Amino acid sequence: MNGQATIKLNTGAEMPALALGTWRLSGTGREQAVGWALEAGYRHVDTAAMYGNEQFVGAGLRVSGVPRDAVFVTTKLAGWDHVRPREAALESLDRLGLEHVDCYLIHWPGGSGADLDVWPVLEELHTERRLKAIGVSNYPVPLVQELLDSADVPPAVNQVEMNPFTHPRDIVAACHDSAIAVQAYSPLGKASRLDDPRVREVAERLGRTPAQVVLRWGIQHGVAVLPKSGDRERIEANGRLFDFELGGDDMASLDSLG
Ligand code: A2P
Repeated sequence: MNGQATIKLNTGAEMPALALGTWRLSGTGREQAVGWALEAGYRHVDTAAMYGNEQFVGAGLRVSGVPRDAVFVTTKLAGWDHVRPREAALESLDRLGLEHVDCYLIHWPGGSGADLDVWPVLEELHTERRLKAIGVSNYPVPLVQELLDSADVPPAVNQVEMNPFTHPRDIVAACHDSAIAVQAYSPLGKASRLDDPRVREVAERLGRTPAQVVLRWGIQHGVAVLPKSGDRERIEANGRLFDFELGGDDMASLDSLG
């Protein structure tokens, strides 16, 4: 079985380190990918109001037969809803058909600041247990710090783009220093550089796919990886990450890519 490694959040909850990413899922994949992922052992699904697919994610969870409490669901507040965060969060829950989500993020900073007007509303919903963990996405270090300085409930998560070619070392270090977990979106670099010679060399030597190597690199950096795929075989293969390890030399070689 795979997909069982977890990262402890500052709320005390365990967040599965492998999630299905769902941005731009289309066709059959939009309706079936969540079911395929759960069958393959994934226990975390990442969606967003902005992706327009929360109802498909919710339906996939319901038909899977996997108990609700066994799955960690992340969704996000769209930029256009910063003026009505409470309503927007509750609408996301309605579309998902869930009483609560495990993690709710401000999808993007709304302006130059840390959205200190939105945050207290998320804190309220967190207290009401509708949002079990609250956090941010695409927040650079100064905004994370600004939020930490004023929040009653510190953010549990920052979701950022991260793969060996785009490696926001400063954000990962600052978040980990402040007990904020990192979720990596586009952990495959949108598959655009999986043919990189250094990635291929490691993959061939270990008998793994380039995608598995790149995802494993993220896991070993202590972040959750959210690979998106609408293809059943790739979803399954991307989930086989917990029966091998990259050595120090391979990590260093991959680190040198970005
Ligand atoms: P598809 O949905 O057809 O599988 P990222 O998660 O970094 O944003 O990357 C998503 C992109 O990578 C999608 O285009 C997805 O296409 C593709 N992809 C997902 N898994 C694999 C894989 N194992 N090998 C090659 N491409 C993949």
